[in-house]
Amino acid sequence: MNSDQDYIELFEHYEPVCIDLAPGVLTDLSAEFLLSEDKPVVTFVTGGNSLTKSGARADMTNMVLHYEFESRLVCDIPAEPDLDDVARIIDALKQSKCSEVVAIGGGSVLDAAKAAWAAYQTGLDVTELFGSGRISEKFPGKEFKRIIAIPTTAGTGSEVTPYANIVDRAAGVKRLIADRQIVPRMALIDPYYGRSMSNSLTAATALDALTHNIEALLNTGSPETKFATNSNAVYAVRLIRDNLPLVFRDPNDVNARERLCAAATIGGMMIADRPTSLPHLGSFSFYGQVPHGIAASMLLPPFWRYYLAEKAVAERTMLLADVFPSKAKQKTPEDVVNAAAAFIAKYAGAPKLSALPCFDAAMVDRIAADAVKNPMKLASAPRPVSPDNAAEIISGILKKEL
Ligand SMILES: [Fe+2]
Repeated sequence: MNSDQDYIELFEHYEPVCIDLAPGVLTDLSAEFLLSEDKPVVTFVTGGNSLTKSGARADMTNMVLHYEFESRLVCDIPAEPDLDDVARIIDALKQSKCSEVVAIGGGSVLDAAKAAWAAYQTGLDVTELFGSGRISEKFPGKEFKRIIAIPTTAGTGSEVTPYANIVDRAAGVKRLIADRQIVPRMALIDPYYGRSMSNSLTAATALDALTHNIEALLNTGSPETKFATNSNAVYAVRLIRDNLPLVFRDPNDVNARERLCAAATIGGMMIADRPTSLPHLGSFSFYGQVPHGIAASMLLPPFWRYYLAEKAVAERTMLLADVFPSKAKQKTPEDVVNAAAAFIAKYAGAPKLSALPCFDAAMVDRIAADAVKNPMKLASAPRPVSPDNAAEIISGILKKEL
């Protein structure tokens, strides 16, 4: 993958989700509903002000008025939604006898809608969905309806992933639902919706996408699949490196925004098959304090350096040597990580996590303690970390680098 338009072809061939990335793509939704035999009863799940600012609200309202289908709106789903937010969506689904769920917003909105639609259809409590493959396990052979995702930020890739992150406030942690039954069936991506994002939100979301692609690339334990290839990951990282600076200079550069959207969706395709590990695991401990993409990307260099002891990781790292070049004649994997770290620091707005105003030393111990509770992510680390010594190893890595 090298050409700027290669992502169009990649998305056309992606079987798990029907992806359309283009300005004005919301009209595809009208076509989808007009083609259905029965008039759909649609629940739109959205965030707050950003929906209006992005222009998505006007598009949605025009469409509903024009095609006169029954609809209900659940709005103001916040960043990092919790079980109460999901319960609010489930209540609305019950009241409307909903047949279609359309989520319009950032990854948080998409995740909350995915969790609610799955809980509503299965009759299970959301907490019963936490973990890997719970729905598929409880309902073997059954296929549930899946949401239509309209992402308005370019970061999580939730529009193509089998994941939903939901905060469990009682337990004080962010918990993960991972199940192929919650992969959206359609992803309609309009790069125009990103124009209203501030530079700091653009950076946080793009750095999240960057981290997904790099973590998946480094996940030497998960083989390449048809779409989650090393070359696609490198291609997506290059798209971010080239286009994030352009969007910073001109937030209305829709061509550059489209490429950031493409990189984020490729990131979702990558982590759907080759999950993230320690940087994302560590980022969960920062919820509510540091934007997810900033936390995950700033944790990437320390863990990446730790992974480099594995020969296979060092080799994968060199695939990014042209994307993150250095002046050294004989480039080493360390040079690549240092150049990537400099790019991340520039757009995250801080040289390292400990430079963020909210950082305190106790955070390192909290990350280490929380990590032990997540064996799924520990298992995807390319340099083995057993739950028995994870706290010690993780706090050692972070104390050295932060
Ligand atoms: Fe992420």
